[in-house]
Amino acid sequence: MMNFAVVLLFTASCFAWSSAIYSSNRDAGPKKLKYLLETLLHADVVARRGENATLPCILRAKPSQYKVKWTKLEPQRVGREDVVMVSNAHAFKPYGRLGGRAALSKAHAMDASLQLRGLELEDGGTYRCELVYGIEDESVVITLRIEGVVFPYQSGSGRYRLTFHEAEEACAQQDATLASFGQLYRAWTEGLDWCNAGWLHDGTVHYPIIRPRPACGGDLLPGIRSYGPKDKTQDRFDAFCFTSLTSGSVSYVPGPFSFRQAGLACQRQGGELALVGHLYSAWRFRDYDRCDGGWLRDGSVRFPIRSPREHCGGGVPEAGVRSFGFPDQMEHLYGAYCYK
Ligand SMILES: *[C@@H]1O[C@H](CO)[C@@H](O)[C@H](O)[C@H]1NC(C)=O
Repeated sequence: MMNFAVVLLFTASCFAWSSAIYSSNRDAGPKKLKYLLETLLHADVVARRGENATLPCILRAKPSQYKVKWTKLEPQRVGREDVVMVSNAHAFKPYGRLGGRAALSKAHAMDASLQLRGLELEDGGTYRCELVYGIEDESVVITLRIEGVVFPYQSGSGRYRLTFHEAEEACAQQDATLASFGQLYRAWTEGLDWCNAGWLHDGTVHYPIIRPRPACGGDLLPGIRSYGPKDKTQDRFDAFCFTSLTSGSVSYVPGPFSFRQAGLACQRQGGELALVGHLYSAWRFRDYDRCDGGWLRDGSVRFPIRSPREHCGGGVPEAGVRSFGFPDQMEHLYGAYCYK
């Protein structure tokens, strides 16, 4: 019965989602494609931070003269589009934040695919490949998804202390960005159940529930509870942060240390205390599993569990990064998670 409910909700949200993509597709250009190959619906490109990605755009016929223009669409900000590059037979012009990492792949004569190097967390989203010929143009739309992990983040001073901009800043300080709704949604399908509401990238506030309970929005179906858009300067919540692969690695140094000693222990190893994002990234991408609480740079104490077992986090049946919150920094009870 429960599973059935989950599936129902899943399908409903999925539909809302793909129809949103569809309508931006429709706005993006003419309906009938003469020169460009139709992109496959749901054929997202998926890559991790730091990797390279190719967004496909293939011509099936060539106009005598044409330009290729790649744009990143920013539905968050109404009317906002970021041109990535424009290219014709003779010249290639990069633009903006992405341009410097962009190239046309030109794997064959009909290839107008976009290559992006060294992907960043913010690169995920919808891109438009536009073919401009004479006064006509046509376009296809493709989604780049950065594979990563969403984690809830609470200020050291307690629950619901962060304005929107403080939440943005808090995620950035943990090597992350505020999650999008799509990222939170995916994390929910992968098992994220969290009973505190947090800011998302678009200024809305949500929380994901898999096991409905009275204290977490009542006995509704499992799903993502929404508070809708909130006042970015007045309202205070927690944050949902998103991070992906990191280039460094996380290791544990056994204590017991105070917070200060933990920092020194990491320096002796040529690293520093890991950020929360580093620990989640190691947990997600390197199967990091360790049943020992360790200090992190923000003063919190956490530990990563891949295979849940008794005595490793209060009988919580799911894999996850467990938290002891922000203990007294003089307590000599924990080890250190270092990042190098
Ligand atoms: C990405 O592409 C650059 C050159 O275009 C290459 O040097 C680098 O090794 C590639 N990175 C990965 C992770 O494949």
